Amino acid sequence: MKKIFKSTIKPGKSIVGVGLQYGDEGKIKIFDQVVPKNTDIWARFNGGSNAGHNLQCGNLEIITHAVPSFFPQPNSLGYIGSGCVVNAAKIWSEIEEITVKGFPLQRRLFISPKCTLIQPHHVLIDQNGGKEVGTTGNGIGPAYADQAQRQLEEKLKNIRLGDYLKESERMKEHVRANLEEVCGQYGLAMDTETCLEQFDEAVQRLAGYVAWDSLFLLDLVEAGKNVFFEGANSVLLDAVVGDVPYVTSSRTLAVAAYTGGDLSVDFHNKTIGVAKAIVSRVGNGPFITELGGRESEEYCKVDGGKKYVKEVEKKMYNVKDLLHSGNLHDLGIALRMLGGEYGATTCRPRRIGMLDLVMLRESCRSNGVKELYINKFDCLTQFSRSSLPGIPVVTAYELDGKKIDYVPSTTSEMYRAKPVIEYFPHIKEDISSVRRTEDLPETIMKFIGEIENAVGVPVYGIGVGPRREEFVRLK
Ligand code: IMO
Ligand code: MG
Repeated sequence: MKKIFKSTIKPGKSIVGVGLQYGDEGKIKIFDQVVPKNTDIWARFNGGSNAGHNLQCGNLEIITHAVPSFFPQPNSLGYIGSGCVVNAAKIWSEIEEITVKGFPLQRRLFISPKCTLIQPHHVLIDQNGGKEVGTTGNGIGPAYADQAQRQLEEKLKNIRLGDYLKESERMKEHVRANLEEVCGQYGLAMDTETCLEQFDEAVQRLAGYVAWDSLFLLDLVEAGKNVFFEGANSVLLDAVVGDVPYVTSSRTLAVAAYTGGDLSVDFHNKTIGVAKAIVSRVGNGPFITELGGRESEEYCKVDGGKKYVKEVEKKMYNVKDLLHSGNLHDLGIALRMLGGEYGATTCRPRRIGMLDLVMLRESCRSNGVKELYINKFDCLTQFSRSSLPGIPVVTAYELDGKKIDYVPSTTSEMYRAKPVIEYFPHIKEDISSVRRTEDLPETIMKFIGEIENAVGVPVYGIGVGPRREEFVRLK
């Protein structure tokens, strides 16, 4: 047995980073700059290929989905924890793309053998039945459902990466049975054999990336290495405490880093959170501060042949007209176009909403956020081009005729709640070239002060443009 001894080495620490709204807050842009340079491992603890993270590596832009954002930092390792679900073919093509772009991942990327595999039938179920929620169609929900289901009669439902690699022939038969059952249910004619072969090939390719030791991360941290847990999908999409059913299927809260990331909570140093000044949501579900409300939610649904992707909206509208129309739904479209708010994973139009301080306060409190970063501050200047009297910020809600200052706990109340809007003075200055706090206009500093008062967490930095360097560190 491995001997546990008292080491003289000072153990490392872990920092957790999460998105505080509905995803797409620009987490990686911030993490890339504020995660300490002595971080040895970047780890994912939840979700899978449903995430979309834009990474700037010099002049290259790489969009990652399941691979952690470690590789531009030399000497760092990446780890995909057991809380993630693995689509082997998708991870493999991501590994290939990153390698081609100059970052070979062999012996740098490690995957827990305990990750649940996304099987072909999971993707079929999601693509056939995930429309109401507006999922990314990656099979995430059905895979987590089968993880909880474990085994049903003779069919093994939860097949993990390590189990498959060690007993491929036996596991393949279960994958086949699960697939045939679902094809039967949906009446789908499919070349199951080819599908199973492709699945098998993809899983086998990951064999060289598996960290077989369950204590892989713990051993490293005990030996003095520092880890950063990179949250995906954001806290308001949490499978249990989000607006069920309009959520993802993993636990997205900061605390989930210590179950899905395979490390003891003993090593926690702090949690940092990323929000954006103009909020977005992709997929369905309540969004109290949405510009255009339910009209916008309907419009952004990708069905019936309507697909308001970037190119389509660009042809359809004139941004200036939208900004001046006096209609909030139009204003939302204009802000989406100006901010390039289209899904990195699915290209869908993101629904756009006002900054919600009630929600942000709760997200920060429930995740113990110590440092708040807010992206897209520069986009607030767009409001001064509209007919609104100032920058709209939501400071309370009205629910069934009563003013409330908390986030309702049921999805139907979330849908009924109306925003109580306060207008902050317009910001007219272009701040995209500002890099130092002292160069920020007074209106911005006042605005930040108001946010800190309302949320109760210091704002450590703001994004002033999409590029990595378009950032002002405040603390
Ligand atoms: P990042 O990490 C935005 C949303 C989907 C859908 C719901 C469920 O890029 O911020 P799923 O495929 O997870 O079952 O879909 O969750 N969703 C995200 N939206 N950014 C994400 O991740 C998301 N991950 C899931 O749009 O509404
Ligand atoms: Mg996304």
